[in-house]
Amino acid sequence: MKKFNGQNRRNFMKGVGVTALMSAAGSGSALSMGQSMGGSGKGYDFDEVYSRVGVNSVKWDAAIRRYGKDKITVPMGIADLDFRQHPAVVKALQKRATYDNYGYETLPASYYEAIINWNKDRYGLEVKREWIRNSSALKPGMISSMRALNPVKGKVILQTPTYSGFRGAINKAGMRVEMNPMKKVNGRWKMDLEDLESRLDYETKCLILCNPNNPSGECWTADELRALGDVCMRHGVTVLADEIHCDYVNKGHKFTPYASIGEKYANSSISYRSPSKTFGHANLKVAYFFTQNEDLMNATMIGGGHDAGCNAFGLIACQVAFEEGAQWVDDVQEYVDGNFDYLVEYVNARGNMPGVEYSKPEGTYLAWLDCNGLMEKVSSPEQMRVYHDAQRDAGRRHSGLTREGCMGEWIVQNSGVQLNAGSSYGIGSDGFMRMNIAIPRSSLKTALDNLNAALKKLG
Ligand SMILES: Cc1ncc(COP(=O)(O)O)c(C=O)c1O
Repeated sequence: MKKFNGQNRRNFMKGVGVTALMSAAGSGSALSMGQSMGGSGKGYDFDEVYSRVGVNSVKWDAAIRRYGKDKITVPMGIADLDFRQHPAVVKALQKRATYDNYGYETLPASYYEAIINWNKDRYGLEVKREWIRNSSALKPGMISSMRALNPVKGKVILQTPTYSGFRGAINKAGMRVEMNPMKKVNGRWKMDLEDLESRLDYETKCLILCNPNNPSGECWTADELRALGDVCMRHGVTVLADEIHCDYVNKGHKFTPYASIGEKYANSSISYRSPSKTFGHANLKVAYFFTQNEDLMNATMIGGGHDAGCNAFGLIACQVAFEEGAQWVDDVQEYVDGNFDYLVEYVNARGNMPGVEYSKPEGTYLAWLDCNGLMEKVSSPEQMRVYHDAQRDAGRRHSGLTREGCMGEWIVQNSGVQLNAGSSYGIGSDGFMRMNIAIPRSSLKTALDNLNAALKKLG
């Protein structure tokens, strides 16, 4: 058997994938850094401000490229983590990198076992090996399903406000977006099933469910999911359940996997997951999806033309994270929950954030801020004109020329904080801005203080 680093391949992969790498790391950098920084003593410290500048990160580097270094103090846009990676994952990737061949690989049984155990341990959900397929990210799997299950050029339902990237995915699949706007009742978004039913026709055979919902954070209850499922089943609509944010659930709430609410619902759905939001693996390009319905899976794989390959590093990161990351996830989630408490307290303390309304969400690490009270002041017709001219002079496409886009521009220019404009999240998003709070608390504090100072100047 071939050897590398003095070990045979089987032992090497075993060592990479499973054992307690944190303790094996001993005085390794990630472990000792967390401790020396006065962190948790567990080898990580979410309070650490860890620079992501200079590695082509979308959140930092793209924002800096667009607005200039002096303008970006705290970017709070794209949904990934500003925390360091789980130390065991880093160690495993470093170890894999020393084996200097990156040719085609199969996905080992241990990869699937890690997924199966994670689902069983965290959500009490049984997922069988033969139900699972890999995907390079969440959207490619979903695109394959849409292509396979919907009529050509058909419509895919989105319950808005919801994740902006779904629209691009639907377009890539060759489909059209059909929005089923939700209603805000007592501070919580509710699905409008009557409206949904009126939109379902022969052209519409897929609905994308986002649970927990990005951007507004609802963790849908079993009853809500069943009511949705009943409507969908009546019309032969397959539920494509995006559960990428499922590990971020705030105190007092619960994530309910769509596949757990009953046999008939599981049988008429596909669930899409990834460790990417949970652990910060987005650019390792690894995700998976599952369904107990063989026909739906075969259609996705064959009709949808799905490529189930995975890169060497993604699969190791996913496996190690699921094998060793449970405590890390509990800790990071608690930290984010604390950030939400801080944010809610800050926004609602008298005078701190005039024009902004906010209450704590059930899940995700995204805050959906109701900024309608700011619209007149920061995106008046006059300001829209200034914004328009600036966009034109910078040679930018005008598609982002919305009142929320203008508000986002004003916020960057006046506070150094970058948020996502609500306008890309569909009907119901007017006057909203999305803020990613998976960042060290000190950075959150800086962002809020800067916003507070900018808003105060408005009078
Ligand atoms: C709800 C939701 N689904 C999917 C994605 C994108 O996942 P991927 O990059 O794995 O396709 C995101 C990213 O923010 C998201 O919030």
